[in-house]
Amino acid sequence: MEDLKNKVAVVTGAGSGIGRQLAHQLAKAGAELVLADVAEKKMQQTVGELHGQTKITSHVVDVSKKDQVYAMADAALKAHGQVDIVINNAGVTVLQPLDEVSQEDFEWVMNVNFWGVVHGTLAFLKHLKTRPEASVVNISSVNGFIPFPNNGPYNCSKYAVYGFNETLHQELADTGIVVTSVHPGGIRTDIIRNAKVHASPGGGDKNEIVGRFDNMARTSAEDAAKAIIGAIRGKKKKLLIGLDAYAMDIAKRLVPEEFVGFVGMMTKRLG
Ligand SMILES: NC(=O)c1ccc[n+]([C@@H]2O[C@H](COP(=O)([O-])OP(=O)(O)OC[C@H]3O[C@@H](n4cnc5c(N)ncnc54)[C@H](O)[C@@H]3O)[C@@H](O)[C@H]2O)c1
Repeated sequence: MEDLKNKVAVVTGAGSGIGRQLAHQLAKAGAELVLADVAEKKMQQTVGELHGQTKITSHVVDVSKKDQVYAMADAALKAHGQVDIVINNAGVTVLQPLDEVSQEDFEWVMNVNFWGVVHGTLAFLKHLKTRPEASVVNISSVNGFIPFPNNGPYNCSKYAVYGFNETLHQELADTGIVVTSVHPGGIRTDIIRNAKVHASPGGGDKNEIVGRFDNMARTSAEDAAKAIIGAIRGKKKKLLIGLDAYAMDIAKRLVPEEFVGFVGMMTKRLG
């Protein structure tokens, strides 16, 4: 989809990080915006920053709740008349080993990261099939092909999103809809500040873990959004973001079992 002018784009998790940057760059490219986030204040900040730039509707939506996502889809079509791009970006994590994490926290992560993507895709799919061209962007992670210890529910949710995306590739192959599976490496956002942190292999409290993440995450949210918009324009089916993501992708292909073991060992040592 080369030209984004007058296209209508839905972005979930638009109140922070990658989602907020996507909203800025899509508005700059001339797209109308349907913004969603569970955190109303943060989303209203994004809306305020974009005041006067394009037509925006905003929705307080918990993406894990099917009825709320489908109500947003109805409202978006009523207000904008069409939807061309859907970016399922909202995501959360809990840091704790699998044998300690509560069922409630495991389900929270799966419900937001996996079911949120499923609802966000299926709520719009029938309509997207009527468009001459359309784009669905579902954010997985490097954790969608390489697991990190202490982040089990997140790993499972992102592997599931990758499987969902590849199934969509098969089932939508003869339609005008391009599905982009996005796998960022470390992106400097508030994802760990917003996480439930119960344990860290490297030790330390939440502030130390956030500090280590900020040091490790080499790519800005702005650059991540730029790469995602490039992938929409270029109709890419898979997007890795950051040198760390490319390096991990190569290592996983070359020595899959050894690399999983190596990442486990290094994470336990460094946190
Ligand atoms: N930051 C990274 O290093 C990184 C790496 C790989 C993948 N990702 C993925 O990128 C996406 C964006 O994350 P980010 O890094 O910008 O994080 P972030 O925490 O800065 O932003 C996430 C946004 O999602 C919103 N959100 C959380 N739960 C929600 C719900 N139930 N319904 C609606 N909105 C909800 C939050 O309020 C927040 O505004 C996520 O899917 C994340 O898993 C991030």
